[in-house]
Amino acid sequence: MDAVEKYMRRAFELAQLGLGTVSPNPLVGCVVVKNGKIIGEGYHQQFGGPHAEVDALNSIKDSSLVKGSQVIVSLEPCSHHGKTPPCADLIIGNEVGEVYLSNIDPNPLVAGKGVEKLRNAGITVNTGILEKEGSFINRRFFAQIIKKRPYIILKWAQTQDGFLARINNDSKWISDSYSRKIVHKWRAEEDAILVGTNTAFHDNPTLNVRDWSINKNQSQPVRVVVDKHLQLKNDLNLFQGAQPTICFNLKKNEISGNVEYVKLNDQDFLQSMLNELHSRNIQSIIIEGGAKTLESFIKNNLWDEARIFESQKRFVEGIASPKIEGSLISQNKLKDDTLSVFINNS
Ligand SMILES: NC(=O)c1ccc[n+]([C@@H]2O[C@H](COP(=O)([O-])OP(=O)(O)OC[C@H]3O[C@@H](n4cnc5c(N)ncnc54)[C@H](OP(=O)(O)O)[C@@H]3O)[C@@H](O)[C@H]2O)c1
Repeated sequence: MDAVEKYMRRAFELAQLGLGTVSPNPLVGCVVVKNGKIIGEGYHQQFGGPHAEVDALNSIKDSSLVKGSQVIVSLEPCSHHGKTPPCADLIIGNEVGEVYLSNIDPNPLVAGKGVEKLRNAGITVNTGILEKEGSFINRRFFAQIIKKRPYIILKWAQTQDGFLARINNDSKWISDSYSRKIVHKWRAEEDAILVGTNTAFHDNPTLNVRDWSINKNQSQPVRVVVDKHLQLKNDLNLFQGAQPTICFNLKKNEISGNVEYVKLNDQDFLQSMLNELHSRNIQSIIIEGGAKTLESFIKNNLWDEARIFESQKRFVEGIASPKIEGSLISQNKLKDDTLSVFINNS
């Protein structure tokens, strides 16, 4: 493997350590190399905190090594004053010799200006290193900036014979405890979780992270429920506690404790809901069902990724699981279930 690609893969590994804590910022990792050896590395750890380049340069004990080094960073260094000073200036000030990056930052405040600043200062900049892998790691950030909506992850569990729930709406115990733990890990990684009215009513989910630890920089995801006619009782689990909760409906705008009721028009309900979430800086959302809700996202081609557990159980009859067309990117046998992940290429 090309040495630069090897360092970039390390930058990607570091970048992903920020999952769940940097949104709505991008995931960024950075490696500093001198004479073929990594002398420093870092990543963007928390929203508003130091950027990856700062973290990596700060990790170098012997600052005399920095001059003439190579900086390998997964996303273009910023050129503007945001919550922190521009990373391009830091790289220039440290007299770094060469910069390698994977993706240009699509944020209009940067969008090539970081590269331009570095080149104007005489630094050689190589772009597009493992570009496809880089965009996949930052797929949430890219969706937020380019599609102007959250990155949408559909998730469900189905039986071997293709059912999401029994006729009586019981969907318990399709997936095993191992798969359910993974779902809690995913909840810790995304900004929000959404369910439809019937799921909120029949399953009474809590929609929080309980079966996975969250660190001190993380918060519980925002809970989102669709309840057009405000039929759901407010003693349901998802309305309880301090976790921020949004209830999209057709009747009222109101804030009541942790619950924000947001009134939408019936036309373009789904798109308006995504616009509202985007305006609240929600970068990613997991759609946790039920069938009608998942199907509405599929029908409108408003999804990016689908994670489907298939158990070995059979219900014979029940609520059919959604049908999806996408590219299968992974399929793994877990404990008792098989997890298939699709991405939407259309
Ligand atoms: N196996 C699994 O992974 C899994 C996961 C979750 C749920 N489930 C099961 O699925 C069943 C419920 O599924 P379901 O299909 O009956 O109901 P559902 O999807 O939970 O809720 C459907 C209702 O939510 C509202 N809604 C949702 N998305 C909407 C959108 N984009 N635009 C407008 N309205 C929207 C509509 O309400 P109105 O009709 O009022 O317009 C719709 O009828 C339950 O039995 C539950 O246990 C299984």
